Amino acid sequence: MAESLNQSGGETSDYKLVPLRGFNLISGIHNPEAVDKIQNFEIRDSDVFVITYPKSGTIWLQQILSLIEVKGDVTATRDQLNSDRIPWIELVESEKQFDSAPSPRIRVSHLAYKFMPLQLKQKKGKVIYVARNPKDALVSYYHFHKYANMLETPKDFDSFFEKFMEGNVYGNCWFEHVKGWYSHKDEMNFLYITYEDMIKDLRSVVEKIISFLERDLTTQQLNDVVEHSTFKNMKTNPQANYQQVPVILLNHQLGAFLRKGTVGDWKNYFTVAQNERFDKVYQQKMKDVPLSFKWDMSELITP
Ligand code: A3P
Repeated sequence: MAESLNQSGGETSDYKLVPLRGFNLISGIHNPEAVDKIQNFEIRDSDVFVITYPKSGTIWLQQILSLIEVKGDVTATRDQLNSDRIPWIELVESEKQFDSAPSPRIRVSHLAYKFMPLQLKQKKGKVIYVARNPKDALVSYYHFHKYANMLETPKDFDSFFEKFMEGNVYGNCWFEHVKGWYSHKDEMNFLYITYEDMIKDLRSVVEKIISFLERDLTTQQLNDVVEHSTFKNMKTNPQANYQQVPVILLNHQLGAFLRKGTVGDWKNYFTVAQNERFDKVYQQKMKDVPLSFKWDMSELITP
């Protein structure tokens, strides 16, 4: 998340969740009236929207797409934060700003499906949905709440676990987010990818994205995109890791956006009882959804 970055929300630390049509926004960061107008935005065929539930690899896609646009030349991305290059649609953008932005307009969003431009359903523009297994997303989000000043600091992991299960966070319920978007995929130009697939084989996911976006990169350019999108390289790249986000939003003493970047960290946090409860809810909520997730690094190793 960290969407306000340099631009807004800098004046206040009085952030709280405020619902808009049943979806939590963050006061002081989002303008509900502006968010509600996004659905009427005119879409161009060249528009690209990256949609994620928070902590599913949004920053990773910002890096990958930034690099694809400059054909892997990382020096061409040094003048701007990735989040300025590929901003959040729900942040400050008015229809006028969006209309006058040059093509290709590449945006990220955590919003629920119901808020997004209606013209996406007419197969205008493209949507890339990135999903991450929800147990790891929960743990990542817990850590993010501890260092994001714009979000309530959780008392402890258990209390955050409850909030996540209730959907009482920005992004609301993980299950509804994924299902809401995925169930409409056939109406849109839609690419579904997972965080775990990127961990397993970043190169082939990048290739998939390049082909979906109909970009043309040489093998060397593809190699460069992949190389500069690894966890290790992003962690030391100030444009890619949000370290310049002001302290009013992120207390960098208490955490890092590029935290662990792995699969299965949830095992270090969930109790057996929490895990059993989560699995039950997962089975019930996902029973009719043809999606599956990888929950541990060992599942990513091909024999
Ligand atoms: P962790 O907190 O589990 O480390 P988002 O941008 O949607 O908020 O997602 C942030 C999560 O994506 C963090 O997860 C972060 O470390 C992870 N991430 C970002 N870039 C990554 C990369 N290149 N490789 C692996 N994980 C990455």
